[in-house]
Amino acid sequence: MTPKIPSSIMVSLYLAIALAVTYGLFQGISDSLGGMVYEILLFFFLSFIGLVVVLEWIVFRRLKSLNMLNQREIKKLKDMETFRREFLGEVSHELKTPIFAVQGFIHTLMDGAADDEKVRMKFLKKAMKNADRLSSLVEDLLIITQAESGEMELRIRKFPIHELILDVMDALEYKFTKKKRNISYTIHANGTEDIMVLADRERIHQVISNLVDNAIKYGNLEGEVTIELKQDPQKVYISVHDDGPGISEEHLDKIFRRFYRVDKSRSRDKGGTGLGLAICKHLLKMHGEQISVRSQLGEGTTFTFSLKRA
Ligand SMILES: Nc1ncnc2c1ncn2[C@@H]1O[C@H](COP(=O)(O)OP(=O)(O)OP(=O)(O)O)[C@@H](O)[C@H]1O
Ligand SMILES: [Mg+2]
Repeated sequence: MTPKIPSSIMVSLYLAIALAVTYGLFQGISDSLGGMVYEILLFFFLSFIGLVVVLEWIVFRRLKSLNMLNQREIKKLKDMETFRREFLGEVSHELKTPIFAVQGFIHTLMDGAADDEKVRMKFLKKAMKNADRLSSLVEDLLIITQAESGEMELRIRKFPIHELILDVMDALEYKFTKKKRNISYTIHANGTEDIMVLADRERIHQVISNLVDNAIKYGNLEGEVTIELKQDPQKVYISVHDDGPGISEEHLDKIFRRFYRVDKSRSRDKGGTGLGLAICKHLLKMHGEQISVRSQLGEGTTFTFSLKRA
């Protein structure tokens, strides 16, 4: 609510007008009443009114700006509350799915499925898969809350970026051939073999792992993942490209939101919770860098981000 013009300013204005009118009426006889005294009194009276008006105006302006400040604070609190509610809703929804699945498999085992060794193993594996999903979800949630709230501290140091890419590919090697997949990968270093970057090695490992993991998960079963490094005097640019089905235009700007999945059931089937890209975006933002995506249906997808050269 914006403050009204204070009544004392109005009263002062009325008084000034009334005085001016009276002054006009009695102008004629003022000489006989001792004009000089009257005019001095009038001068002081008008000065007093002027002072009151100016002071009140200052108070009025101050109140108005305080009021605007309060409105901003209230809006900020309301936004935080909405964020908290939405976040909790999304988190509990995502947690419920694997928890219910684990419960379901255990119940089935208890109801007799455990007697047959083959069936027992099948359900135990399924329960394990969901427990793994639960644990990685909790881990991702911790990272994203820390990154979003600014509680995460980066350990910035110099390291060779090409070596880090080789480390990531080594760690993910098994995923390229897992489950009927036969995906190959190529690294185009473009002369960056000895280039050093300034960043948090562990966090950048996480970013590249998420991007390569997506390229494998959402790419073709017999596809190709390409990692390309480019440089300019200030930066190194890292791209992860797959020749998969791509992402349509309408989804491109939304995939960096937390819990956003283009095809919910397909992603869930692949164990995706929609946090990977949100984590990448936040981690790079903390480095003062950005991530971008280029994709067309049927033409594959390329994610690119930059890092500062040391
Ligand atoms: N390379 C890609 N090709 C096609 N779609 C992709 C690709 N990368 C991401 N997406 C789409 O963007 C969505 C968001 O990706 P993101 O990595 O954030 O989540 P996720 O892979 O589903 O889960 P998480 O990474 O948390 O395990 C995915 O669900 C998928 O629909
Ligand atoms: Mg992902």
